[in-house]
Amino acid sequence: MLGCNQALIAPPFLPLVLERIFNPDRMSLEGPERRPPANYEGHTRWKERVAVTTLATATTFGQTDVQVSRLGIGVMTWGTPKGLARWTPATLAYGAADGAAAEQQAFAASLAAGVTLFDTAAMYSGGASEQRLGELARGTPAVIATKFPPGLFSRADSLPRELEASLRRLERACVELYQHHFPSSRTPIATVMELMADAVEAGKVRAVGVSNYSAAQMREAHAVLARRGIPLASNQVEYSLLHRQPETNGVLDACRELGVSLIAYQPLASGALTGKYGAHARPSGLRRLLPAFRGRGQEAAQPVVALLREIGAAHGKSPAQVALRWLLEQPQVIPIPGAKNAAQAQANAEALSFSLSPAEVEALGTATAAWRA
Ligand SMILES: NC(=O)c1ccc[n+]([C@@H]2O[C@H](COP(=O)([O-])OP(=O)(O)OC[C@H]3O[C@@H](n4cnc5c(N)ncnc54)[C@H](OP(=O)(O)O)[C@@H]3O)[C@@H](O)[C@H]2O)c1
Repeated sequence: MLGCNQALIAPPFLPLVLERIFNPDRMSLEGPERRPPANYEGHTRWKERVAVTTLATATTFGQTDVQVSRLGIGVMTWGTPKGLARWTPATLAYGAADGAAAEQQAFAASLAAGVTLFDTAAMYSGGASEQRLGELARGTPAVIATKFPPGLFSRADSLPRELEASLRRLERACVELYQHHFPSSRTPIATVMELMADAVEAGKVRAVGVSNYSAAQMREAHAVLARRGIPLASNQVEYSLLHRQPETNGVLDACRELGVSLIAYQPLASGALTGKYGAHARPSGLRRLLPAFRGRGQEAAQPVVALLREIGAAHGKSPAQVALRWLLEQPQVIPIPGAKNAAQAQANAEALSFSLSPAEVEALGTATAAWRA
């Protein structure tokens, strides 16, 4: 099946390119068994895709047929916000962006390296991130994941209108993954999932995801969608070596059990796992106030970074690449590191090209056991 944008504007050779990129034979769904719900008609297809190689570079969003690279890129800081949007959390947290040319080069470097998933949200910089991604993605095989709602006070019944606004900014007739950004009393899960299902049936959304959902909230969303014959594709949550709560709060187990992809945001712990920050070098933006960048939190992270460096040296890889690879060793996890320029995007994509030994995975797990709490 073609992606959303291809239906609109792709040149005729793109399906062939896509087939090469997403050869299902290269997919890996190894590891803990992921059972599809009996009522989902993709059950047979799911079983056919099982386990081929650990160096898989492609997968699907959960049990949907939407094919996607095993690692994506988060474009939260991209775009040129105007007015009050200049003071939204992404801009404040990460400081100044590297500029439009750097974004264009990062976009091109990602696609060239086989990274096709681009994650954005209506909320990022008041829609400027979606708009920039829409410009860059014209005529490309980019798989776009975006999120509803656009603001903290939005109500569930605004979803159809806000989806149209996102599609306009993204310059698309449909989006591959539409995610509920965070649960809130103004956007009840059942209402949002019914509206998401309507959008799938209308052909405006190919897969439905959630974000910042607990295991119980995932089960609720999964059940509502299952009644409409639609699988819950993904739950996007914070997950890195310095934030391992998904392993202990039931989210990772629920993803495995329900056959849902876990999209890992802040997989580099906002840059703390890259090894470039320490007492000698503070990051830009308000993220410097995060525990990993100051005081005891920063001290505690240093042995983790040292281990990443040591393991990386054996593979010719950087601490950031090893940190991403640790996530990729779990087949249901899709990390989406943010990147400000082509060098970062290219480096992050290289996490797809090597693997860690079980002993290395275990050593990193042991060194970061405290971050499971
Ligand atoms: N669903 C949600 O609620 C939610 C929340 C937050 C984020 N997200 C998504 O997750 C994505 C990623 O999260 P994030 O950007 O906050 O955190 P992150 O991926 O952990 O960190 C990204 C930052 O690390 C640095 N970096 C990236 N690659 C690097 C490399 N190879 N070498 C050295 N430094 C590198 C860059 O900043 P510097 O160069 O300035 O250090 C970059 O901005 C976002 O873009 C967004 O799509 C979702």
